[in-house]
Amino acid sequence: MANVAVIGSQWGDEGKGKIVDWLSSRADVVVRFQGGHNAGHTLVIDGKVYKLHLLPSGIVRPGKVSIIGSGVVIDPWALLEEITRIKEQGVEVSPETLVIAENAPLILPVHRVLDKAMETSRGDRPIGTTGRGIGPAYEDKVARRAIRICDLDDDAALERKLNRMMDHHNALLRGLGLEEVDVQETLEALKEVRSEILAYRGVVWKVLDQARQDGKRILFEGAQGMMLDVDHGTYPFVTSSNMAVGQAAVGAGIGPDVIDNVLGITKAYTTRVGEGPFPTEQDNEIGERIGQKGHEFGTTTGRKRRCGWFDAVAVRQAIKVGGIKGIVLTKLDVLDGMEEIKICVGYDINGERYDHLPAAQNLQQAATPVYETMSGWQGEVHGARSWADIPAEAIKYVRRIEELVGAPVTLLSTSPERDDTIVMEDPFVK
Ligand code: GDP
Ligand code: IMO
Ligand code: MG
Repeated sequence: MANVAVIGSQWGDEGKGKIVDWLSSRADVVVRFQGGHNAGHTLVIDGKVYKLHLLPSGIVRPGKVSIIGSGVVIDPWALLEEITRIKEQGVEVSPETLVIAENAPLILPVHRVLDKAMETSRGDRPIGTTGRGIGPAYEDKVARRAIRICDLDDDAALERKLNRMMDHHNALLRGLGLEEVDVQETLEALKEVRSEILAYRGVVWKVLDQARQDGKRILFEGAQGMMLDVDHGTYPFVTSSNMAVGQAAVGAGIGPDVIDNVLGITKAYTTRVGEGPFPTEQDNEIGERIGQKGHEFGTTTGRKRRCGWFDAVAVRQAIKVGGIKGIVLTKLDVLDGMEEIKICVGYDINGERYDHLPAAQNLQQAATPVYETMSGWQGEVHGARSWADIPAEAIKYVRRIEELVGAPVTLLSTSPERDDTIVMEDPFVK
C-alpha cells in the first residue's frame, strides 16, 4: 500500500487539485499539511466545477476521510464559508469525513490587517500576497503566540492568549498610525463559530496512525509550489511555509518513512501570481496567448497569472530539493497550436552561466534564460486519454522535459476534466 505525497514544483497553480482528486479514487485518507486559504484548487468533474481553498481535494469523493493537519493555518470563518459552499454543491461534509488537527493555529482578523499593513509598508516592492493573513499567522505560530483549535473550548485560556497576542500587534498597529483591532470583537466572533469548528476537531496523528495500522492508503496534498517555499523558493517573494516533502510528515504528524512516493505537479509552461523573479516570463503576446488559452486567472484572488516558458532549471532544482520522484505534467494541451516552444536550460547571470537558481535576490532578478527551441505540433493533446493519441512532436517535448529535469513523467494531464489523465507509471507502486 503506497502512500503518495503531491507537491507543486513551480510557483503554485500547477493543477495539484485536479491530480489529488484523480488520485483520491485509490486513497482512503487525504491530508493537507501546509498553507491555508491562500491556496486555490479547481476540480472539474463531468463539467461541474469545484473550487477548494482549505478543504482537501479528496472531500468531493464520498467515503474518504479528509484531514487538515497542524501545518495548516486555519481561518475559521473562511473554513465554515467553504464548507457551506461545497455542501450547497452536494458534497457531504461531516465530522466523519473531515478532521481538523486540534493543534492547528488560527488565522484571525488581526492577521489580515497585518498582512495588508506589511504589504503597504513595503511601498513599491510588495510581495503581492493573497491578503489572507497567512504570513502573520505563521509568524505568530513560530513566536508561540498563536491561538490554536484546542484553545477554542477554554474560555479563560482563549481570553488570556488573545489579550497577549493583541497587546503585541496593537502596539505595532499604533506605531504605524493604524487603527487597533478590538480584542472583545475577535473574542465574540470566535465564540460564535467555535462550536461548529470544534465539531471537526480531532487528534490527527492518532487518526493517521490508525489508518496506517488498518492498511489504509494516505494521500498528502501540498498547496503552493517549491519556488514559493520559505526556505528554498525565491525569498522573500515566497509564502510562509515549506512545500518540500519533509513538511508533509511534519505538517500531518507522521514519520517521513510513511511517504512512499512523491509526485511533483508540473505545468508544461510556467505561471506565477504576485511579485518576484520569474526568469522565463513572457510579458508579451506569447504570455498573453498562453494565459488566455490556459485560463490563467487565480482561483483565490482572481488575479491574472504571469505566464512564461517552461523553466527546466527551476523544476530540476525543485525536484532535488523537494524530494520529488516523478512528475505529473499538466496543461500540455495549452501549448496545442504553438509554432515553436522554448525551454529554459540554463541562466545567464551577469555574463556567467548558471545551472541553478542562486539564492541572492539580485542574482535571481538578473537571471536571463538560455533557451532551447523545439517545434510545436499539429493535432491536439487536449482531451487525449491515451499516449497513442499524443502527437509525435508533443511526445518529443515531454521526453526532453524528463531528460532535463531528471525525473520521469508519471501522469500526463490533458484537460481540466478528472478523467483526461494518462497513466505513464502507476503512482501507487512503491
Ligand atoms: P492548483 O492550485 O495546483 O490546484 O491549480 P489551480 O486549480 O489553481 O490551477 C490549475 C487550473 O488548470 C485549474 O483551473 C484546473 O482546472 C486547470 N487544469 C488542470 N489540469 C489541466 C490540464 O491538463 N489542462 C488544462 N487545460 N487545464 C488544466
Ligand atoms: P496554490 O495552492 C500560486 C503566492 C502569492 C504571493 C506569495 C505570498 O493554489 O498553488 P501569501 O498570501 O501566501 O503570503 O502570498 O505566494 N501564493 C500562491 N501562488 N498558488 C498558490 O496556491 C499560492 N499561494 C500563495 O500570490 O506571491
Ligand atoms: Mg491554485
